Amino acid sequence: MPATLRTNADLEAMLDTNDEWITTRTGMKNRHIAGEHEATSDLAIAAARHALDNANIEASEIDCFIVATSTPDYAFPATACLVASALGAVGKPAFDMEIACSGFVYGISVAASLVQAGIFRRVMLIGADKLSSVTDMTDRGTAILFADGAGAVIVERSATDGLLGCELGADGREPSLLYVPAGGTRRPLDQAGLEERAHCIRMQGREIFKHAVTKMVESTNAAFAQAGLTPSDCSYFIPHQANGRIIDLVGKQLGLSSERVLVNIAEYGNTSAASIPITLSEAVARGDIKHGNILAFSGFGGGLSWGTVVWRWEA
Ligand code: ACO
Repeated sequence: MPATLRTNADLEAMLDTNDEWITTRTGMKNRHIAGEHEATSDLAIAAARHALDNANIEASEIDCFIVATSTPDYAFPATACLVASALGAVGKPAFDMEIACSGFVYGISVAASLVQAGIFRRVMLIGADKLSSVTDMTDRGTAILFADGAGAVIVERSATDGLLGCELGADGREPSLLYVPAGGTRRPLDQAGLEERAHCIRMQGREIFKHAVTKMVESTNAAFAQAGLTPSDCSYFIPHQANGRIIDLVGKQLGLSSERVLVNIAEYGNTSAASIPITLSEAVARGDIKHGNILAFSGFGGGLSWGTVVWRWEA
């Protein structure tokens, strides 16, 4: 994780906000912020190395690299190409997936499908974002939320399937609920856009909040039904870390006790596609996740997009 911390006290010094408001409305205390010259690929490479070390394998043993991100180093080439080469896996297939904060959930369903189809034996999926590069630090409604980070998993063929159930969705009718207005082909970035900070995230927080709770609950119930299970079978629910109140409400509506819902939002804020693999990686490091545990990864974000994957942990 990037070393520099941005605390609620730091935000108090920059904006008309306060620790009490941020803590009660979001559950956030700290965020890790990448350096000016640290790109998304740098965060992704560090997370990938960590995953390779944990699995005790070489990058050359990975057959395909996927980076889920909405803050790539460049419009193109894909960040995954840079990451694979930096790891020493020149020549291996590599591609990005852009579906905002749902990136990890979509990504793991694709990674698992490529493995299940027999196309690859091992796929590395990295969720990585440098949201600080698109955060408007004059907008207190968003500046308090977003941060930087990366997490990685390796999906490999095994005797039994990891992916048990999957429900994904998207609704692109109102992209402006959560988007970056300028810098794409709809509105190329120009001087006026820069002055308006139109290259930064714009969000209608209340609408996103309601949507997030509804869709995470619906997609989790649907993914468990597809797996022939119910949320009561879930060992650990690992949600996208966007807001502590969203996570609380979703957990309650699914009937999950709080110790089964993994939350690290106080330390990291919202790291978009990175938040689920970071949370998973911490739980694995603590030794919480055991062979055979049933996990649910649930995310939502810009698009609008959402989804849940039910996964049996075979490591
Ligand atoms: N500090 C102090 N006051 C604030 C702050 C702040 N940082 N931000 C907003 N306020 C004020 C507002 O101006 C408003 O004041 P008013 O009543 O005088 O008009 C009041 O607080 C309430 O504002 P709301 O926006 O209604 O506050 P809410 O309780 O909805 O919390 C929040 C805002 C935290 C943004 C919440 O709506 C939220 O988390 N929504 C979901 C956002 C999210 O998850 N986004 C990421 C999606 S994932 C992705 O793809 C990136």
